[in-house]
Amino acid sequence: MTAEEKRNNIDKLPTHVGIIMDGNGRWAESKGLPRLAGHRAGGDNLPRVARAFWAHGISYLTVYAFSTENWSRPQLEVQGLMEILRETLSRPDFLETLHKENMRLRHIGRLDRLTADLRKAISNVLERTKDNTGLTLNVAFDYGGREELLQAYQAMMQERIPPEAVNEETLRRYLYTIGLPDPDLIIRTGGEERLSNFLLWQSAYSEYYTTPCYWPDFDEAEVQKALQAYSQRQRRFGGLRVPG
Ligand code: FPP
Repeated sequence: MTAEEKRNNIDKLPTHVGIIMDGNGRWAESKGLPRLAGHRAGGDNLPRVARAFWAHGISYLTVYAFSTENWSRPQLEVQGLMEILRETLSRPDFLETLHKENMRLRHIGRLDRLTADLRKAISNVLERTKDNTGLTLNVAFDYGGREELLQAYQAMMQERIPPEAVNEETLRRYLYTIGLPDPDLIIRTGGEERLSNFLLWQSAYSEYYTTPCYWPDFDEAEVQKALQAYSQRQRRFGGLRVPG
């Protein structure tokens, strides 16, 4: 099936998809491999999935790669995850793929706790892809929804924004996701059914989809299934069902 046919097959598509990439550890364990091999396979899976979403016409993809709570994992795993991101971003073929696919990379989350090398690798790819006009691939790394809200309140207080001037639009300007539409669909792989501090503010009216599929196995067919499920949902944003 061509990309065009796939698009036509699904009548209602999300603009922004968020993904909680879970199940890397279990994927590795099921193959008798160390957990980090699962994270590596997970990182390698990202371009394939991003390409598949773009082929369906999705404009924004936000992937949860490292949460503010993931610091509590064993030090070796934390270092391994940092290294996987740094290595991936520094690989010439990764940058080439982003350019070839016209993708733009963005980062959401804290940068101050990352090593200087990792910060440099991130800012290099952000800078090099900033003029691309295809899919925006938003990597949430050292990201937590509660931390995002706290830093927004702190920044507003520091800037002495008067309380009566704080409304939803003001707050949005202080979130890491400034300029991005809210996610329409949030996918969680690995079978669990929780949000885990992902895009708390932005996901108020997102549709949720979970699949038992582990993240490294989440392929084009899984993308199609998730989009198909989304197209069946009736979104009401707190209102009533629209007749017909
Ligand atoms: C959750 O699986 C996954 C993570 C905490 C890390 C996700 C990171 C990547 C896919 C690599 C990121 C790389 C790039 C290039 C953005 P888990 O370890 O909790 O799995 P488990 O529940 O099976 O143990």
